Amino acid sequence: MKITKVETSKIDKVDFSNLPFGSVFTDHMVICDYKNGQWSEPYIKPYSELTLQPSARVFHYGQAVFEGMKAYKDSDGKIWMFRPEDNFIRINKSAARLAMPELPKEYFFQSLEALLKLESDWIKPGKGNSLYIRPFMIASDPMIAASPGEEYKFIIICSPAQSYYAGKVKVMIAQKYSRAADGGVGFAKAAGNYASQFYPTNLAKQKGFQQVIWTDANTHQFLEEAGTMNIFFRIGDKLITAPTNDRILDGVTRKSVLQIAQDKGIDCEVRPVKVAEIIEAAENNNLLEVFGTGTAAVISEVSAVGFKDKVYDLPTLDNDYASIIKNAIFEIQYNEADDPYGWRYAVD
Ligand code: COI
Repeated sequence: MKITKVETSKIDKVDFSNLPFGSVFTDHMVICDYKNGQWSEPYIKPYSELTLQPSARVFHYGQAVFEGMKAYKDSDGKIWMFRPEDNFIRINKSAARLAMPELPKEYFFQSLEALLKLESDWIKPGKGNSLYIRPFMIASDPMIAASPGEEYKFIIICSPAQSYYAGKVKVMIAQKYSRAADGGVGFAKAAGNYASQFYPTNLAKQKGFQQVIWTDANTHQFLEEAGTMNIFFRIGDKLITAPTNDRILDGVTRKSVLQIAQDKGIDCEVRPVKVAEIIEAAENNNLLEVFGTGTAAVISEVSAVGFKDKVYDLPTLDNDYASIIKNAIFEIQYNEADDPYGWRYAVD
């Protein structure tokens, strides 16, 4: 693979003890171009601006999909990824839904591994430190007819990351807006799924909440996702989450949390979750935990849930499920425990 390195790294200018999520980028990036019906070999070049015509389709119709992944470093300086195969499968699933071409597996993995080795100094050891990896694909050809592109770019950029949220979050249950509809693109990591959340989330922020819990578009009676994450509820000792479908993202962290919870003997239910049962449980002090799961945030605990004019505060527990499961995931990700599931992926 062709690799063009930067002359001088910018790493010395970065304050690794203060990293607002997604604001600092490493020295290099991967680019892979699709033209005339095929992908050309990926290459690595210094992180820099892209040159696209203003008529590039991505700007007009949002033909864009992405992934979120992380790389970790263990105490011996070895680099690991977590279930990267799942991200590879999902980006192609998202691409197919947006009529974009399938990316070959070897291009995804070869370029990703080469990039991570090159950026090794940016991956700091220590639990909570990681390199957030953002692979994405855009339609790049100049054409404003509303039809699928004929040229695409697959790009990978990386950003050193610590936590996504500073602490627990207050979330508001959506009564009017929704994130996804039956037959739509909710299951895909389509860029537009995220842009369409910004306005309702801003309204929630004006009321003192950080995120919205999305309800189903048809009835607003079922809870589906929280902000950019999947969502779990603990009622009594039971952990409940909604099943994936064409409205809900098949989150890698979501399915890892479910697996670990079940193996720890926690009673898990994957089934539609009614707003009414969650409110009833909160009123009876039986709603013990709510947390979101995602690659960026890992597990993000909820401090309070807002519904209509009421705010339901959640208790602070010792040995809460969120902390137990998060710790078990971290131990696998940072190579501090056995990995019975084969989720860890060595980059060497
Ligand atoms: C992730 O958790 O990786 C996501 O894709 C969410 C993103 C909006 C930060």
